[in-house]
Amino acid sequence: MAILVTGGAGYIGSHTLVELAKEGYDAVVLDDLSNSSKESIARVEELTGKTFKLYVADIADRDIYEKIFSENDIEACIHFAGLKAVGESVEKPMMYYQNNITGSLVLFEELAKRNVKKVIFSSSATVYGDPAFVPITEDCPKGVITNPYGRSKSMIEEILMDICVSDPDWEVVLLRYFNPVGAHESGRIGEDPNGLPNNLMPYISQVSVGKLPRLNVFGDDYDTPDGTGVRDYIHVVDLSDGHVKALENMKKGVSIYNLGTGNGTSVLEMVKAYEEASGVEIPYVITDRRPGDVGNVYCDASKAEKELGWKAVRDIKQMCADTWNWQSHNPNGYED
Ligand code: NAD
Ligand code: UFG
Repeated sequence: MAILVTGGAGYIGSHTLVELAKEGYDAVVLDDLSNSSKESIARVEELTGKTFKLYVADIADRDIYEKIFSENDIEACIHFAGLKAVGESVEKPMMYYQNNITGSLVLFEELAKRNVKKVIFSSSATVYGDPAFVPITEDCPKGVITNPYGRSKSMIEEILMDICVSDPDWEVVLLRYFNPVGAHESGRIGEDPNGLPNNLMPYISQVSVGKLPRLNVFGDDYDTPDGTGVRDYIHVVDLSDGHVKALENMKKGVSIYNLGTGNGTSVLEMVKAYEEASGVEIPYVITDRRPGDVGNVYCDASKAEKELGWKAVRDIKQMCADTWNWQSHNPNGYED
């Protein structure tokens, strides 16, 4: 039996392959490599001593499923594949809805056809919008989402909920990630964004190796202890472990879990922690707020602890140290 991992060559997918292998799972990857490279899979193979079949295709390509299912005995799917750049989604909404929603629909149909009705989906804290309260529990109502990327996540959640209503055999887990950062402790796999990073940690890490001159801190007038935005950063290895725990605890219907640490960290706290971990100064300037940003986002992750037996164990210091280790050894990502 094997797990079908869509988007498995990407940042979170590649780390999840390592955790799956550790727990004895076989996995096959479906990825069109639109935001990743085969090199990540090669490095996962090096780290785990296992081989992973990689099917290079779009999740919307119906023909590929015949091949995958005839060559493998698939029991469940972890669905990471999707486009994720917030700004790009505002510029190219049709591309985002086509890729994320149409692609997911094709995937779910092809799984259903073959009676594979277990799906773990990569959702996001973005579905809470400007949260009604913090720490955010899974009962917090969804908020106003300000971009097509975030709406695609929310819509896919709803599609999966409707599927579960229509057919009680489905077992679906919606994992709402908070802010994934860090890298595998080996420094062999990590986050390798295309072009200018959108997110804080890859931006800081590119400043740390001299690829970017300074960090722009988007606003220091939020209602937070130092005025800069507060987020719940989670180490990607903890996050990956959350997928394995979800897989081990699947049940009928839809289950929703926040995956975060429960701790909020501000932009300036992150800069300081990264400087301490790397020994490198991170120059920064305070700029205007980024449109669509909110001040405080951190979760209550106790439901995942209670029901899945999962808890994030790596702290900000480790997140920064592992990011630095990855970035300093691979300044150009997988191109090195
Ligand atoms: P990533 O871009 O590194 O990985 C996504 C992978 O999916 C890439 O390898 C890409 O090539 C592949 N892909 C994209 N569209 C595809 C398609 N149509 N067919 C086949 N493959 C396709 O991103 P990531 O950070 O690893 O994120 C994984 C998932 O988690 C995404 O769905 C993302 O939206 C979600 N998520 C990420 C974050 C984050 O901050 N990284 C936060 C919340 C949710
Ligand atoms: N920030 C900066 N400068 C930067 C980048 C970010 O100051 O160059 C600040 C932001 O204003 C925010 C914090 O750093 O306060 C974190 O920003 P990120 O872009 O790293 O993360 P967000 O929480 O804004 O959003 C991310 C993903 C979304 C996802 C969300 C929740 O971009 O797609 O996490 O998972 F939905």
